[in-house]
Amino acid sequence: MELIEIMAKRRSIRKYTGEEIPEEKLNRILQAALLAQTSRGKQPWEFYVIKDPEVLQKLSRAKKHGAALLADCNTAIAVFADSDLSDAWIEDSSVALAHMSLMAQEQGVGSCWVQMRMRIDSEGNDAEQNVRDILDVELPWRLVGLMALGMPAEEKEGYSLDELKWEKVHR
Ligand SMILES: Cc1cc2nc3c(=O)[nH]c(=O)nc-3n(C[C@H](O)[C@H](O)[C@H](O)COP(=O)(O)O)c2cc1C
Repeated sequence: MELIEIMAKRRSIRKYTGEEIPEEKLNRILQAALLAQTSRGKQPWEFYVIKDPEVLQKLSRAKKHGAALLADCNTAIAVFADSDLSDAWIEDSSVALAHMSLMAQEQGVGSCWVQMRMRIDSEGNDAEQNVRDILDVELPWRLVGLMALGMPAEEKEGYSLDELKWEKVHR
């Protein structure tokens, strides 16, 4: 399948079967993350693979809205970046997250990006700090987000190349 087709088919999947993600698929997703381009080639990121259901439960409460799916996913990958090593840690982490979502699609694994930076939990605490506390990671490691992964239990229609918003392109 061409890359453009994978891109068009990729949707955020928030319902999972509970099946284990085959190890070779997970490895492919991590390879895609490790292949991501970074500013000045500094590779400031590290990837935390979380499978423990109790930890996933805790992570699902780290943020008020839009993190509940973490409790049901099979694996979450937290992308931490050393903000002392690179001032482009947000961009570098985002590229890695995007790579993972495309590879997940190619591998038939459902994925959903879960933002943590600049978000709060139900008591107003900083979501990113909550995740650092849960995973025992200290500053200057910063977190843009996590990728929730699981074998898909919902099907969503992909995007059509015929309906792209070309008005957003200025020549
Ligand atoms: C930067 C970013 C942050 C996101 N954060 C969340 C989130 O916290 N929770 C969630 O359920 N989805 C999150 N998403 C998924 C978006 O809601 C989703 O990509 C968007 O609605 C478009 O749908 P699609 O992914 O199916 O094309 C995020 C996506 C991006 C790129």
